[in-house]
Amino acid sequence: MKIKWGVIGCGGIADRRTLPGMMLADNAELVAVMDAYMPAAEKCKEKYNAKYAFDKMEDVLAIDEIQAVYIASPVFCHKEQAMAAADAGKDILIEKPVGLTAAEAEEIAAYCESKGVKMGVGFMMRFHSYHQAMKEIVSSGKIGEIVSARAQLTCWYPEMENCWRQDMKLSGGGAMMDMGVHCVDLIRYITGLEVVEAAGICGNQVFKYSVEDAGGVIMRLSNGAVAYVDANFNIPDAAAKCKIEFYGTKGSIFAQGTISQVEGGEIEVLCTDDGLGYDANQDRGEVTPLEVNVEFGNMYTKEIESFGRAVSGEAPVAITAADAIASQKVIEAAYASNANKKYEIL
Ligand SMILES: NC(=O)c1ccc[n+]([C@@H]2O[C@H](COP(=O)([O-])OP(=O)(O)OC[C@H]3O[C@@H](n4cnc5c(N)ncnc54)[C@H](O)[C@@H]3O)[C@@H](O)[C@H]2O)c1
Repeated sequence: MKIKWGVIGCGGIADRRTLPGMMLADNAELVAVMDAYMPAAEKCKEKYNAKYAFDKMEDVLAIDEIQAVYIASPVFCHKEQAMAAADAGKDILIEKPVGLTAAEAEEIAAYCESKGVKMGVGFMMRFHSYHQAMKEIVSSGKIGEIVSARAQLTCWYPEMENCWRQDMKLSGGGAMMDMGVHCVDLIRYITGLEVVEAAGICGNQVFKYSVEDAGGVIMRLSNGAVAYVDANFNIPDAAAKCKIEFYGTKGSIFAQGTISQVEGGEIEVLCTDDGLGYDANQDRGEVTPLEVNVEFGNMYTKEIESFGRAVSGEAPVAITAADAIASQKVIEAAYASNANKKYEIL
């Protein structure tokens, strides 16, 4: 069964990734595209062979055959658009961060629930084959109990005029809310653990817009492990490796290049013996890495197919509003602790 889709917001992510991904999905049919800037909608209509292009969301919602909408507009538009879609009875796949604040995300989620529509969130990196392999390895116990985790996402994001993402009122946050939130989500997903405490330091070093251009979060996970996320808008793309690492009592996982919009990257999994004694020499020794064989696909295709299966009732929503709210709360806790300056030294 093909789910009929409407797309709200035909900018960067929709045109660059999600619509190409949707074209490869085995259960999706694109019906309408909408953008406040009509040429963007027209361009996507032609490019992806949609039936309709609009510059008003009501026109999309008025089409009966549309079952699901994908909301990829700027964050400040999400609440009004998600609620309008819920009023129209459409199931909603919405981009991260869901709202300008976690409270707004909660409001959107509660509204969708009250209207009986499904809501899924665009943390598509969960569908990366290596991230799924990492989750399996961790849950199999091969690296023991998780004691530490670290994830990093960076880009080079210079000041631009009229850029909603660089304006706190329109985006809800900078490097940490825009990109760090993916890292928090991946740590929660791969470890299966919740974040119970978070603190952060962030600010502007290179770029002077109203959102932070860099920041770091330190988190306590629900099993007591301490985990770290760093997010930067001020590291040149070619200089970044976007690493993700997990350490357990029996081994570790190192990956780079997997936190990305395209499946790829490298992974190394090291498992050591059980019951090691103390070694004063701290001999790192040589461990043969575990072989990890995966087939790369398209994370956006998998995201659309997965939400389509939820719409048709074949499967539950894979990435829920609760997931998105939990990760957004972590970033907010980091902002709050940064604002408190409780741990300032100089
Ligand atoms: N999951 C991912 O891989 C990923 C990557 C990038 C962005 N995102 C998220 O996707 C969303 C959009 O980000 P982007 O980078 O594509 O932004 P963008 O600025 O490139 O595109 C946004 C588009 O929305 C349009 N728009 C503005 N107001 C609108 C309105 N009221 N109704 C409909 N369209 C409107 C703009 O004209 C523009 O074409 C954000 O939530 C962002 O965080 C997700």
